[in-house]
Amino acid sequence: MKIFIDTADIDEIKEAANWGILDGVTTNPSLIKKAVEKMKKKGIEISMEDYIKEICKVVNGPVSLEVKGRSHDEMVREAKILYEKFNGVNNNVVIKIPINTAFSLEDEQFEGIKAIKELENHGIPTNATLVMTPEQALLAAKAKASYVSPFLGRVDDFIRKNLGIEHGKMDYWDFEAAKLMEYERRKEAVKRGYESIAGINYNDNGIHSGVELVDAIIRMYRAYGYKTKIIAASIRNARQVREVAMLGVDIATIPFAVIKEMISHYKTMEGMKKFSQDVVEEYEGIFE
Ligand code: E4P
Repeated sequence: MKIFIDTADIDEIKEAANWGILDGVTTNPSLIKKAVEKMKKKGIEISMEDYIKEICKVVNGPVSLEVKGRSHDEMVREAKILYEKFNGVNNNVVIKIPINTAFSLEDEQFEGIKAIKELENHGIPTNATLVMTPEQALLAAKAKASYVSPFLGRVDDFIRKNLGIEHGKMDYWDFEAAKLMEYERRKEAVKRGYESIAGINYNDNGIHSGVELVDAIIRMYRAYGYKTKIIAASIRNARQVREVAMLGVDIATIPFAVIKEMISHYKTMEGMKKFSQDVVEEYEGIFE
């Protein structure tokens, strides 16, 4: 599995690249906003173009940059600008296109798909972003997107919100337990003659979690041999990384804090302390 870092913070990107585990970067307008605000706070003046060029230079792997427009024409125009300005730096730019740019059901819903198709036809690689269902991922593959980004954390947030479950941003969503609850509650409701409430939703149209979403997309793509690479995105904790890795996802794009969570365990630290204390003089001598 490849590891991308989900940030536009150049310090985080450089540090992760230095650890030797980085295969790429994903950004979005919110992550760029956060990085710009951090720079401003530090009193550092930046040229956005130089900043993005530096990101592309530091990483030897794909760097996703997102368009800001919502119509097919705007997105294709912006994608070409991003590609022309930045792909020359390290030949690693991928254009992030929202799978659907509509704000409501009255808006055009296929602008993203059309833009993906056209850009891929022109040899510009795309990353279909904001994917929340297997069906959207299927359409991204049909449009021949190079990458698709299902948003695990946001799917988990949505299901928990609908259930009225309070949670911290990085909390693991125990969807297996939720599935059991759903099953038990249904049985109980039917037993008591409350069929009408037996269908209480522990899922979003059959998807119980972001991890299940990734599982569904992997199975769908394998069934038809689609070439689109799956990036597990919107990751909130190390356990989600483990679960998507066990499913065999192509890539996980992971926030800096979660990459740090992946390396850490209390017993590793405890063991390390003990090994350090137990170094005897005789052994020490070898290294002198
Ligand atoms: C993915 O490419 C997105 O940039 C990102 O994963 C969104 O994550 P969030 O839901 O934590 O904002």
